[in-house]
Amino acid sequence: MIEVVTELPALRARIAEWKRAGLRVGFVPTMGNLHAGHFSLVRLARTRADRVVASVFVNPTQFGPNEDFGRYPRTPEADAAGLAAAGCDLLWLPSVETMYPYGVQGTVQVHVPGVTATLEGAHRPGHFDGVATVVARLFNQVQPDVAAFGRKDYQQLAVIRYLVRDLAFPVELLAGETVREADGLAMSSRNQYLSPEERPRAATIHACLLAMREAIRAGRPRTQVEAEADERLRAAGFVPDYAVVRRIDLTEPADGEPGPRVALIAARLGRTRLIDNLEFDG
Ligand code: PAJ
Repeated sequence: MIEVVTELPALRARIAEWKRAGLRVGFVPTMGNLHAGHFSLVRLARTRADRVVASVFVNPTQFGPNEDFGRYPRTPEADAAGLAAAGCDLLWLPSVETMYPYGVQGTVQVHVPGVTATLEGAHRPGHFDGVATVVARLFNQVQPDVAAFGRKDYQQLAVIRYLVRDLAFPVELLAGETVREADGLAMSSRNQYLSPEERPRAATIHACLLAMREAIRAGRPRTQVEAEADERLRAAGFVPDYAVVRRIDLTEPADGEPGPRVALIAARLGRTRLIDNLEFDG
């Protein structure tokens, strides 16, 4: 059985009870419409905690004005059942009013500089302020000992690492591997926006990431590798926001410089915007 909590005093009471009993609390923040990727994070948190809390909150402050906040899929019953099956103990399900009691506009905001200037931060202004703000708030509500995030959102994970480091949250971070469909498409709540005709083409993103890795390892110039990925995505009907190879801290590598790399793609297929990445030694 999973306990569903919607009010902050009830959440605090349960967490305090667990802490008094000396139990370690794990936490998996989500926006719901949960899939195998989210459930793998619950199991990952469970390896380092005695109790696992998941939150489902579609956070309005991390969506841009023309983004999909209104149509983001909301499936609370299925989420609760899936979380229970994955071994989650408590589902924290706050309303917008509970999360932002003083309003979405007037709330204190957390801004992580530097790493948010590029890629997703550049294409989705304000997005990471919304993420950092809600995650800081969630950490203060849940007070977890350990929290799990997915590598699928590579830059988000970097933002959370800085947030925890700079604001001295006593939270150990765990990074979960990206869970994929059989054809390589990274699982995402947004995949269900894809039409039956678009769905098979969506796997092109992962194919491009693999090709980028091979080309870099073969010593091909980075800008050429990026241009080819962009071209291949366009040929498959995507409108790419970026298809790039970066150092793992997301800065641009010099020509011919070896080292750990991450290839990252964000691209729109019809009305669906998809992101994915692949880490490798280049
Ligand atoms: P959401 O997109 O629901 O993702 C919740 C967590 O699941 C994130 O840490 C994300 O990286 C991870 N995740 C998503 N797809 C995954 C996959 N295919 N494999 C492994 N992990 C995956 O990310 C957010 O929500 C929000 O920004 C949030 C952090 C909850 C703040 O609102």
